[in-house]
Amino acid sequence: MLSKDVPTELARLRALEELCDPISTAIVEHLSPEPSWRCADVGAGAGSFASWLAQRAEVVATDLDTRFLTPGERLTVLTHDVTGDPAPGGPFDLVHARFLLETLPSRADTARRLTRWLRPGGHLVVIGVDLSVAAFSPHPALRAAAEALLDIFTEEMDLEPTFTRGLPRLLAEEGMVDIRAAFHPLVVGDGGPGERVMRATFEQAYGTMIATGRLTAEQVDAARDWFGQPGHLDILALMPVVTARRPA
Ligand SMILES: C[S@@+](CC[C@H](N)C(=O)[O-])C[C@H]1O[C@@H](n2cnc3c(N)ncnc32)[C@H](O)[C@@H]1O
Repeated sequence: MLSKDVPTELARLRALEELCDPISTAIVEHLSPEPSWRCADVGAGAGSFASWLAQRAEVVATDLDTRFLTPGERLTVLTHDVTGDPAPGGPFDLVHARFLLETLPSRADTARRLTRWLRPGGHLVVIGVDLSVAAFSPHPALRAAAEALLDIFTEEMDLEPTFTRGLPRLLAEEGMVDIRAAFHPLVVGDGGPGERVMRATFEQAYGTMIATGRLTAEQVDAARDWFGQPGHLDILALMPVVTARRPA
């Protein structure tokens, strides 16, 4: 459903980058990266953040499927499974993981391993996506589609929507310091990048929703029609942003 073989997946990832790159770049700029820094962007997707970072530091961009990633002067691209493969270099001054951990089967173990890839004083930046807020949407047509999507994510793809929200406690147990969390809304109905991400995700999932009896064709039509109507604005997800540092 969200494989890179799906023809619309690249456009969906580009919308995700438009939504999230301002968040990632603001955080990293605040950390004042130095040219000598070694950084890892794990599950780098279509690579815009890794490319931005490679203008400031040395970067390895990893992904299970690297077809949308292009190496550059200070940007190494590596086919790599973050759940089991050895660290892709390091020790790192910065490890960045976005829209990744909640989708992984061994998400907690993977998060712990990422902290061990850091040099003392190195920074971990995790951005997640928590769709649970969609269950309380006051818009029935949108809520039905969001609930069906969340069902597929949790029941068929084993996604844990609140994982990043719970990450601060895990990081504290790992001895990480300066742990911070912030939450950004993913807004739909405004025609912005959040809406483009969610509409593309819905479109790629509608077939499965209907085939598994989670939504009828009429409900799919109603969800599609919801967009672009006056007053149709809502939040479909929260994006938790968790940052922490390995003690020096
Ligand atoms: C939703 S995309 C997010 C891409 C990028 N981080 C971003 O925010 O723009 C998730 C990415 O993680 C990759 N991925 C999934 N499982 C992975 C794994 N076990 N190891 C490495 N990458 C993985 C996928 O191939 C996909 O490119």
